[in-house]
Amino acid sequence: MTATDLPPSLIATLPGRFYTDPDVFRREQERLFESMWFCAVRGSDLAGPGAFRTVQVGRESVIVTRNRAGELRAFLNVCRHRGARLCTEESGEVRRALQCPYHAWTYDLDGKLIAAPNLVKMPDVDRTTYGLVTVQLREWLGYAWVCLADEAPSFEETVIGAAVERLGDTASIERYGTEDLALGRRITYDVKANWKLIVENFMECYHCATIHPELTDVLPEFAEGYAAQYYVGHGAAFAEEVEGFTVDGSAGFAKLPEVAEEQDRRYYAITVKPTVFINLVPDHVILHRMFPLAEDRTIVECDWLYAPEVVESGTDVSKSVELFHRVNVQDFDACERTQPAMASRAYRAGGVLVPAEHHIGIFHAWLTERLGGTGA
Ligand code: FES
Ligand SMILES: [Fe+2]
Repeated sequence: MTATDLPPSLIATLPGRFYTDPDVFRREQERLFESMWFCAVRGSDLAGPGAFRTVQVGRESVIVTRNRAGELRAFLNVCRHRGARLCTEESGEVRRALQCPYHAWTYDLDGKLIAAPNLVKMPDVDRTTYGLVTVQLREWLGYAWVCLADEAPSFEETVIGAAVERLGDTASIERYGTEDLALGRRITYDVKANWKLIVENFMECYHCATIHPELTDVLPEFAEGYAAQYYVGHGAAFAEEVEGFTVDGSAGFAKLPEVAEEQDRRYYAITVKPTVFINLVPDHVILHRMFPLAEDRTIVECDWLYAPEVVESGTDVSKSVELFHRVNVQDFDACERTQPAMASRAYRAGGVLVPAEHHIGIFHAWLTERLGGTGA
């Protein structure tokens, strides 16, 4: 059956090979993860000058650190001498410089070459020219977003624009003050599935009634399966008897101070392509960052962010965390169950999207256009 044979209720998904073919994944690394703004690190993970994290962005390893002035900086994790990886750890702290473990070329926290064995005998070596390759960086919602492209797309349009498209304006997300929230919990999931299965899953709620009993108890409209969460400005209302966004509907925490009355007792979900999901509830923000490592493996780092006083006071956040942690496990199990079938002859032409999922077709159209067509 071809896409043109489908009844009007159904539209085709991408063919199975889009989820299994290393060539498609390589093209996604090049044209998406290495070309768009990529949410890399929470700023508060880098406590002070010299703290660093290394993250995989497409095919590149990127170092994100703080310079002496406390500003975030990002560099390609490649020594300019003969290419050794500079930082081999996922995170760490240096005192005032990054030193290559091979021949000890040493760079300051703005990337400038400041020392190397016999460097004084090479006065013609320019310290900036042979400094680390800088990666563009923007801060938003308390995260460092990096872009490897020579000409970065507009951050306002492609990143902030996703929130505006979903909520109708910028004020609605700004009221959560996400940049000032404190990390209450982080859980890292190693998902054996293609990153697009995770995005598609996040975009629809047709599965909610089947696999998310705790979530549909809190958000009854999700049990109806329609993607009401994707109407501009619409937030899913909490069930009447529910006190907070917790695993058993018990009370959460005080509403974040600027959150508007009409946003109270509602859940909003935003997808920032290609790799970020933002979930807003009155008393916290849950932010997912994906790190696609292979066509069949994606690391997802999920942060639960609360008012600083909630975290500083040592208040128990476990009932609050448990709700979306269960949702994550339920979703990622579903994605892992789906991944092996992507290589089956039964899925060669792909599957179908029902009307409640048709908007996923917009994601597919966007993706295939960026990859240069379905022949990718
Ligand atoms: S490769 Fe880094 S100092 Fe030689
Ligand atoms: Fe789900």
